[in-house]
Amino acid sequence: MKEAEQAAKDAEIEVCIANFTDKQDSLLKAWYSGTYSKIAAMGGNRSGKTYSAAALFAKHIRDDARPGEYWCVCPKAEISVKGQQKALWELLPKSGFGKFKWNAKSGFGSTNPMFIYDECTAENPDGRNIEVYFKTLAQYDDDMQSFESMSVMDCWIDEAVSEELFAAVETRIILNDGKVLISTIPSQAAEWMYEVIHHAQDDDGVFLVEMFPEDNPIMTEEKLSRFIKAIPSHLREMRLAGKFLMAGARVYVEFDTDRHVLKHTDVPKEVSWYACLDEGMDHPTAWLLVAVDKSGALYVYDEYYSRNQPPTEDVKAISAIQGKKKLVWPTVADPALWQSRKTGMSAIAYQDAGLPVIPGVSTTKFGEDQAVYRIKDLLREERLFVCESCTNLIREFHLWKYKRDRQNKPLQKDAYEDRNNDGLDALRYLLTKVPRYVERKRGSFMSIPFD
Ligand SMILES: Nc1ncnc2c1ncn2[C@@H]1O[C@H](COP(=O)(O)OP(=O)(O)OP(=O)(O)O)[C@@H](O)[C@H]1O
Ligand SMILES: [Mg+2]
Repeated sequence: MKEAEQAAKDAEIEVCIANFTDKQDSLLKAWYSGTYSKIAAMGGNRSGKTYSAAALFAKHIRDDARPGEYWCVCPKAEISVKGQQKALWELLPKSGFGKFKWNAKSGFGSTNPMFIYDECTAENPDGRNIEVYFKTLAQYDDDMQSFESMSVMDCWIDEAVSEELFAAVETRIILNDGKVLISTIPSQAAEWMYEVIHHAQDDDGVFLVEMFPEDNPIMTEEKLSRFIKAIPSHLREMRLAGKFLMAGARVYVEFDTDRHVLKHTDVPKEVSWYACLDEGMDHPTAWLLVAVDKSGALYVYDEYYSRNQPPTEDVKAISAIQGKKKLVWPTVADPALWQSRKTGMSAIAYQDAGLPVIPGVSTTKFGEDQAVYRIKDLLREERLFVCESCTNLIREFHLWKYKRDRQNKPLQKDAYEDRNNDGLDALRYLLTKVPRYVERKRGSFMSIPFD
């Protein structure tokens, strides 16, 4: 009987995993796929994020973790004891804990809580020595040294932590090709995740599954409605729908994937073609192909982004994207390209490489604010769209921010961050020239004057 009880207890992880929803399952699959280095469950409260992350991390420790140091990180010590520490204690087979014990008051120890799972001892000579340490954001803020460790294998972060702490974790796991598991709501304390996790780029190795309270199998309608009532209305978007509440910092709050992102096939057939370019020195270079239809609506049709490529390479790739589409004007570019720089005039380099360019109106004449407001109006009126192939530009629409002061409040004037705005800058230069639909006369070339 005792043995049967023990076996049942040892199967806690399997019981949890058997209950997994498809979303929770996808987290597990992503972890074992070998494709990702950051695996995140984000979304509303009580949606099953911690439940699935705990079972996954416990399984990893029990079955396939290699000898070494593992970290579990959360905001505060009390949360650690009742959260991550308790979860691992309850999920993992007790036989693996050896002399280590958890209790509700001090967890695995009131200072530097940790346990060694499957410890190598005289009785257990083949033990793997899995060292699991519990750390907190509070501890990091107090003493960054406590996060200096030779190397960490993998890490589970439950609840929001700071970008600095996350960076500290990342530098520790990199040498071991380690992974970070994240289970949190998009709290204001972790706005940085909006960029790093939510709008990660394809090669960032990020897997994200968004979970909502209604995904949780134990959430009944009655519970859900009580839960909704308990949340102040201004926090509902975040706590229920898992939305980042950072609208104050985002420039293009009007941009909405559902309304503004289209497929190529949604773009009208009769359009005029334009292109624009923002050359990056330290930033990426961005080139956009834009269609204007008869009503004057704009469609960013394709994009080309590159880093540290000579104009000749850029131009080859750009011509391939442009294909047979005839532009009304040469590519409209940042007027700074006509100023001589260390490398000489970039405008000439592009011309020589085979990409004719004309300058947009300089920002001193057509203010940045003015251009931004035009784009905001176009978005609001649903007269500016972006095709789904333009993943970099879409990301910028979500990420470009106002600068903030030390208290994290937006500054009043001339206050845009100079990052995540490469394609947006190119688009802004094109709009200063007011591109319009032009009727093409059969058999004749157009000569559209541009100032
Ligand atoms: N697949 C499941 N089967 C059974 N119970 C589940 C499942 N997923 C979650 N639960 C239960 O639902 C409750 C909420 O889950 P969990 O604590 O993981 O939510 P969370 O998303 O981490 O929420 P919070 O944002 O509040 O931390 C827990 O009691 C958990 O045991
Ligand atoms: Mg949780």
